[in-house]
Amino acid sequence: MTTVSFGAERAAELLGHPGLVPPPVAPGPPGGLDWLRAGVARFATGGAHARRRAQVADLLDAMDLDVLRLRAEILTCIVLDEGPLDVMTRVARDVPVRVLAESAGLPEPDVAAVRTIAAAYLAGEATAETDAAVAALVAAFGGVPDEPTAAGIGLLVQACEATAALIGNALADGASGSACADVAAQLRDDPPVKATIRIAATGIAGTGLRPGDRARIGLDGSHPFGAGPHACPGREQAIAIAIGVCEALLRVQPPNTPIAYEALENLRIPARIDVAPIVAEGNP
Ligand code: HEM
Repeated sequence: MTTVSFGAERAAELLGHPGLVPPPVAPGPPGGLDWLRAGVARFATGGAHARRRAQVADLLDAMDLDVLRLRAEILTCIVLDEGPLDVMTRVARDVPVRVLAESAGLPEPDVAAVRTIAAAYLAGEATAETDAAVAALVAAFGGVPDEPTAAGIGLLVQACEATAALIGNALADGASGSACADVAAQLRDDPPVKATIRIAATGIAGTGLRPGDRARIGLDGSHPFGAGPHACPGREQAIAIAIGVCEALLRVQPPNTPIAYEALENLRIPARIDVAPIVAEGNP
């Protein structure tokens, strides 16, 4: 398959083009990874996309942004109390998923299951492990493998890696002493999602794309959350949670060793960030 790459200056135009659609997904048995991918907004078009997106929007609109931010800060502080840790393993993914799940009515989410699915979600690499993770979340959401259940799981999975990347990069690069400023600077100057993929359903004039070609569409600070009908519906919630986590992370020593990044083409995410809480003078 031919892949054509486009710069971020064409993101709004191309992501709004009706002839460019998300990569196709193959349906699978209810309750597995293929079933999830075939049932969420992310890979859908037309009426199915509009309906599923409305389900996600209903879940997100019911969330209070101040509660998300405060819960993210509190849960991060609780983890930081344990002592030195890797933020990427213990905080950056776990806290956003927990906070969102709580707000979606799932008080004890299986965060490991969400992380397993998130790692395979875009590429669609179904294994026994990913299918078991999806089955565990279907059970947690009430046991019925239907569209609203897929919307709830999809929301947690979509949030997991991108929000972790935003938090990790804000911690790695942030130097302002303000969580709000660090998160805003990341989104403006170095947003975590670097590109997204579409498939040409038809020939697209002015692009060189022929039917079936793959388009890699760059994203930058003008469109950190994408554009067009699939633009991220979790933008405000993601920012609130990232600020809450970063507020708590102001209480750790900033990383002072070089940071390695995961080898992913479309997401800039630190592999690990080791930190130690700042110990106030006089405290043990
Ligand atoms: C609360 C956290 C988040 C939630 C609940 C969330 C949810 C979602 C959902 C459900 C979609 C698919 C929408 C659709 O196809 O109609 C999506 C797309 C997207 N999200 Fe998020 N997201 C979150 C955080 C983030 C963050 C932190 C970023 C990066 C700064 C991000 C970037 C994107 C992008 C670029 C897309 C569009 C992908 C495309 O068009 O191919 N998201 N998000």
